[in-house]
Amino acid sequence: MSESKNIWNGYGLRGNPFNPDPLQVYGGALPIEESFIGREEEFKQITKHIHSNNTSRILIYGNIGIGKTTFANYVRFESQNDYFTPLGELGVQYDWTPQDFMFNTVQYVYSTIERNESIREKFNPDILQELKVLFGSERGIQTGIGANAFGFGITSTKGKQFAPQPTNPHALKLLFQEVLDEIQHIGYKGTIIHYNNLELIQDKGENQLISIMNGIRDFLQVEGAHFLFVSETSFFELFHQIPRIEGIFKTPILLTAFTPQEIKKILEKRVSLLRISSDITPINPVDDETLEILYDLYEGNLRGILRSLDCAINNIESATPTQINPMILKYTLYHFSNNRFVTNLNATEKKVLNKILEKKETTNKNLCEAFGMLPQNVAPILTNLRDIGAIRLARTEAQKRFYSPSQEALWLKLNPTLNTPLNPFFKKK
Ligand SMILES: Nc1ncnc2c1ncn2[C@@H]1O[C@H](COP(=O)(O)OP(=O)(O)O)[C@@H](O)[C@H]1O
Ligand SMILES: [Mg+2]
Repeated sequence: MSESKNIWNGYGLRGNPFNPDPLQVYGGALPIEESFIGREEEFKQITKHIHSNNTSRILIYGNIGIGKTTFANYVRFESQNDYFTPLGELGVQYDWTPQDFMFNTVQYVYSTIERNESIREKFNPDILQELKVLFGSERGIQTGIGANAFGFGITSTKGKQFAPQPTNPHALKLLFQEVLDEIQHIGYKGTIIHYNNLELIQDKGENQLISIMNGIRDFLQVEGAHFLFVSETSFFELFHQIPRIEGIFKTPILLTAFTPQEIKKILEKRVSLLRISSDITPINPVDDETLEILYDLYEGNLRGILRSLDCAINNIESATPTQINPMILKYTLYHFSNNRFVTNLNATEKKVLNKILEKKETTNKNLCEAFGMLPQNVAPILTNLRDIGAIRLARTEAQKRFYSPSQEALWLKLNPTLNTPLNPFFKKK
């Protein structure tokens, strides 16, 4: 799958309609304005939160691959004439402290202002200078927070001496407030900040989450900013347990799976947007029955469906462009997953993997009960299956760890029956 083939022109397309990446705010082969489908209610809800307040904090949550990042990007795209927003989303890192959170936020806002000439020209030069000294390349702090990042002693190029900036959260908040006020002053209604993948924080346990959220609570209440927090469902469950934080948030927005009709529409739209020219009719790269099979396998999860189609089409052995049908789908994906995960497993590992494939979530204890094994014998198998990417840790609850099949391991469920004739399109590895 890693070798890059240029197959799409043969289908009459300019690019890959199965690209599983989020739609971007700016540009891309699939422009968000035309590629984005559905979510009308959620969009109404979120724009109401934003338009009827001068400041807000909004949690967007749902399962991985359901369309959260794309949704937040769409909100930013649709708001960009009225609301200032940093060029990209802020990817939350698992080891962020509250200071990292705040520092990176202000830095990202600054870096966008600095690169946008029409904004830069209107912006109060004193504030710009202050930001430049703190966050600009002159300080060499582009890589985030260095150990020295909070000891700023500052001289402006105009020769005016700024007092050394205090490095505490309160000072960062004041500076941020100044910037947000100026953004409104030059004509924007406000600023939208998008934090992505918040769930990464809980990797270090729920105490870290609580301490971070408490540490940024004041910062999040600046006027003129709307904070979109994008996160997996597991994070929402934790978040729910911190009333002091939950209290400053609007009603969270849950994103659920698309309907089969929406998925079909999304793919049709992609194919039509990617067509080479209006006088060439593209080959539809997948049939409806295949989409139904994948819809059931992934319970409507769009990224799972797209990744499956992407892998299947790259493993078709055919000189001419071929539409994916259920037979091709099963052969390519089953064999791909089998080669990748199963062939190197011993009998016990296979047994455990099969058991995990049966259910949405499985714990060590479930496996002990099923096979009469000891926890200490199951643990290394789980570690190995996780290392090779066959299973993933879905969530932890107190001491319990819940495992789920990875998206690729689910292809093992597509096992073509033994009496199906050999598929001529399957590329042997
Ligand atoms: N509303 C939508 N319309 C069209 N495509 C979408 C939509 N939402 C998500 N997608 C596509 O689905 C895939 C997964 O979306 P993504 O935003 O990355 O999910 P998440 O952030 O929840 O993991 C991406 O390829 C994205 O382009
Ligand atoms: Mg995402």
